[in-house]
Amino acid sequence: MDRVFDGFVVGLVLAKRFRLIDNQGRNRIVLGVTGASGSIYGARLLRHLRALSCEIHLVASSTAEKVCRFEGHPLPQNVPTGSDGLAGSVIRHAEGDFFAPPASGSFRHRGMVIAPCSAGTVGRIAAGTADTLLLRAADVCLKERRPLIVLLRETPLSRIHLKNLLEITEAGAIVVPASPGFYHKPSGIEELVDGVLARVLDLLGFPSEIAPRWKDCPGHD
Ligand SMILES: Cc1cc2nc3c(=O)[nH]c(=O)nc-3n(C[C@H](O)[C@H](O)[C@H](O)COP(=O)(O)O)c2cc1C
Repeated sequence: MDRVFDGFVVGLVLAKRFRLIDNQGRNRIVLGVTGASGSIYGARLLRHLRALSCEIHLVASSTAEKVCRFEGHPLPQNVPTGSDGLAGSVIRHAEGDFFAPPASGSFRHRGMVIAPCSAGTVGRIAAGTADTLLLRAADVCLKERRPLIVLLRETPLSRIHLKNLLEITEAGAIVVPASPGFYHKPSGIEELVDGVLARVLDLLGFPSEIAPRWKDCPGHD
């Protein structure tokens, strides 16, 4: 009897480990990437989410493709589980594919992050155009009351930007400006970027420690 029970527990652990059981889509994230500068935010977030064993549904705008390449962080196509030693996987969807899972409210996932997000995409979300897969997926998050985290990269901000940011905030989105802190004394761009991404992972409820918390910062007593 003990051996049967042990076998059941081992089976359950393995099934969870390889994500055969995830009825709520808790390990699924929709990642949108736009043509704002700061493609490193999307690239590093993708890596952190893969390290957390996530199934990432990647949706990029056509400008994102060009800006990511220009900034040295080209977007990946499909990435299988286990590649580069990371458990998570990437499923890439085409910009105009409204038949892809993230276009539907019945597709369960933990939330969507748009990183980096342009001011133009914020405006289109605010207007509810839903005329690309990225915009439709964001629209779906708002209507389904799922987390939508918008990592905005633009400066300075016009009145139109500020109004659109208020509009999407009132609709349920969380705006995270790509505005890193310095109190953790980052030693390079990656640590600077991770300071912002740590807040994004916190908002998604992941148990991640990619940047020191305030109490662990050098100089804090
Ligand atoms: C190199 C480069 C950097 C850009 N940086 C920004 C930016 O930081 N923020 C922004 O809102 N738009 C930026 N843009 C402009 C957007 O790419 C442009 O408004 C585009 O229409 C955004 O469309 P999308 O949101 O569908 O990707 C940049 C464009 C280029 C070519």
